[in-house]
Amino acid sequence: MTYRTQNVAFPYFVVALLLFGLQVIVGLWLAINYFFTVPQDVVNVFSFATARAMHTNLAVLWLLLGFMGSTFYMVPEETESELAWPKLAVAQLVILSLTGVTALVGFLFGWTQGRPLLEIPFTLDVVIVIGVLMFLANIGTTMIRAKRWTATQGSLLAGLVFLALMYLFGMPFYKNLAVDWYYWWWVIHLWVEGAWELIAAALTAFILMKLTGVDRKVVEKWLYVELGLFLFTGIAGTGHHYYWLGAPKYWLWVGGIFSALEPLPILLMVVDTLRDVRKRTKPLEPKLTWVYLIGMIILHFIGAGLFGFAHTLPGINYYTHGSQVTVSHGHLAFFGAYVLLNLTFFYFAIPRLKGLPGNNYDERAGHWGFWMMSLGVVGMSLAFAVAGVLQSYLERMMGQSYMLSQEPIRFWMFVVFLHGLIVVAGVFITIKHLLTLKPAPAGAGGGAGS
Ligand code: HEM
Ligand code: HEM
Ligand SMILES: [Fe+2]
Repeated sequence: MTYRTQNVAFPYFVVALLLFGLQVIVGLWLAINYFFTVPQDVVNVFSFATARAMHTNLAVLWLLLGFMGSTFYMVPEETESELAWPKLAVAQLVILSLTGVTALVGFLFGWTQGRPLLEIPFTLDVVIVIGVLMFLANIGTTMIRAKRWTATQGSLLAGLVFLALMYLFGMPFYKNLAVDWYYWWWVIHLWVEGAWELIAAALTAFILMKLTGVDRKVVEKWLYVELGLFLFTGIAGTGHHYYWLGAPKYWLWVGGIFSALEPLPILLMVVDTLRDVRKRTKPLEPKLTWVYLIGMIILHFIGAGLFGFAHTLPGINYYTHGSQVTVSHGHLAFFGAYVLLNLTFFYFAIPRLKGLPGNNYDERAGHWGFWMMSLGVVGMSLAFAVAGVLQSYLERMMGQSYMLSQEPIRFWMFVVFLHGLIVVAGVFITIKHLLTLKPAPAGAGGGAGS
């Protein structure tokens, strides 16, 4: 760590990790509901719908807090200056965390807008907007004052502004449900396949420059190509959600063609990263940080690129739409792209924030955490996929009712649950490891760079 104000990143990482732990525990409860008939008295207090809202909103909240912390770590180094208002950054964390807790408690009492992933009521949305404006003002002012623009921080800022703008479209409730869903996707799709991809590309570029010692020019040249492709395919690719909600027919073509191209920029990211890793001038240490980086780009490609492509063409989506096939892709993509990105950044930044010698740390338990989480999520996603294919076949080909087709799916949801247990264990090992990182034992290698 070179700048004092980078320290504000740490409390963001801590809150993000604790919310991650809570999120996966609620995930287990969701899975139980699919194979075990929960007594009505329990359902009355804590229904599947409430738990699902908590699980997904917690995911979005902790991932965003992680991105914000990572931004606060990265911007001082990129601008070569201290953050404009470090105290504001702490106030913002308090505001956003309290809003998150209020929203979760509110869900228990039915205080919700009802739309999946965007359940948070309008009043709380306004507080979130205030928190995000504080964030953008802090980051923007730091960058403007420093007058040292780089492509990496430019794309980070573009992604963050894009993210904030899209959120606004999900705040009002449109009386016409087709219109409501139309804008719902501006938040959901344009976030994960637009704004968040820009943020991911920028954070990955930053870590790569620091870890590999590869020239900034090389990394940033490819960053432009990736960003252009992400925006070109991702924006028109929104159409893959407009097939069946009452939008004009041409979306079948636009959505099909452009979203089918979306795996390309992700593949390019894999190729770029591996090339930079091969050209590195610094040692591959600590190994765990590299395991995370490589694991992230591979699972990002499989979860978003391959599992996304599998159901993006209208001819296939007609059968799989809104089934467990969607859930399978949702988990592997979110985990591969954004959970692992956050954790990679935490493993990169925390040893530096703590000033561990050579930026190295005792890795042992961390490897268990990585493999249990990753194999657990892969297994879980495969089980969701089997359940989804069964569901699509029974409901959409054989014409069975929703409840009848759930019967054979129970077994696969039990398999989801078993993998979920491994994921939860891995998550807790990882949280403990990250929050108690210790210096590497004597005799371990020298560590990697600045
Ligand atoms: C990291 C990037 C991505 C993430 C985190 C992600 C996540 C998700 C999630 C959570 C959903 C479910 C939304 C809902 O209905 O509740 C979804 C739906 C969908 N995703 Fe992705 N996705 C990503 C990238 C992609 C890509 C690149 C493609 C195509 C190549 C794709 C294709 C689809 C399709 C077609 C659906 C709609 C499924 C349906 O009709 O039910 N996704 N995605
Ligand atoms: C112990 C691990 C986990 C288990 C057992 C689990 C289980 C579930 C279940 C059963 C659902 C409901 C699916 C439905 O509505 O039919 C769900 C939804 C969801 N979960 Fe998880 N989950 C876990 C971890 C995660 C993680 C790590 C993430 C990503 C950060 C995540 C993101 C989501 C999302 C985005 C949805 C909504 C999917 C959609 O709309 O298609 N989950 N989860
Ligand atoms: Fe999408």
